[in-house]
Amino acid sequence: MTQRVAATERVLAPPGRRRCEVVGNRAAGGYRIFSALDPSGPAPRAGQFYMLAAADGWGQRDGRPYLPRAFSVAMTEPVEGGVRLDFLVEAVGPGTERLASLQAGEGLWVTGPLGRPFSMPADLGGEIAGAILVGGGIGIAPLAILRHELSAAGAPQRILLGFRDRDHAGGVDELFRCEEVRLASEDGHVGHRGYVTDLLGVLLEGDVAAGAAIYACGPPGMLEAVRVTALERGVAAELAMEAPMACGYGACFGCAVPLAGGGYMRLCVDGPVVDAAEVETCLVPGSGH
Ligand code: FES
Repeated sequence: MTQRVAATERVLAPPGRRRCEVVGNRAAGGYRIFSALDPSGPAPRAGQFYMLAAADGWGQRDGRPYLPRAFSVAMTEPVEGGVRLDFLVEAVGPGTERLASLQAGEGLWVTGPLGRPFSMPADLGGEIAGAILVGGGIGIAPLAILRHELSAAGAPQRILLGFRDRDHAGGVDELFRCEEVRLASEDGHVGHRGYVTDLLGVLLEGDVAAGAAIYACGPPGMLEAVRVTALERGVAAELAMEAPMACGYGACFGCAVPLAGGGYMRLCVDGPVVDAAEVETCLVPGSGH
């Protein structure tokens, strides 16, 4: 099993939720990217997430509020007055529709940054220097911030991104601008016709993959294929997983994920980034949409 980044390296969230101001919302292919100004929280690490809720219009007609939604941060930047946080969102239900509709000037409740971030390659083994990023669909978001951290650390990267179809492709141009990215799509509208894991398989056949770790985020089926491939080939891999999250800080056990050695972890505090060798499966009930 690869070494985990020390828990003390986590960026810890201030206690309680805080109100941020939405400062932008723009189209990103089939998705939206909305931005918020966090005046008092620390900058997040790649792979960490926030629990988000719109300050207004967040609930059903009978007045019951929606639960906050867990979102990995796609990009962050220090700006005047705090830290800007960018989130990639696909409107697939009432909560995500509301988040996708947020306009500049509106309020957003945030709790975070939460959870365990991605490790740097050197933390996964002394011989590991490079990174292979594998993203699918909306799961490309945390890889966008990761590539900046890897670049700052001087780690060479290969980026492989896959999409189901044109309607479920978004964020590449906005989040991976000027990057050498290899694309795959199941409908063949861009790049290789097929799965992003096809590209990963080809890459792992070559010398270029030697001394590199895999970093993946995407739909459960894609992550499971990456997990199995990494274990079969003996390649270190970290996966940003998804599970139903009601609280985000370890209290509800709604995000339990089975461990390879037996027992469970709570993905919100022990993940969402996990060692591929650590978990029994990425096919967690309730994950994906
Ligand atoms: Fe509640 Fe993880 S979301 S314990």
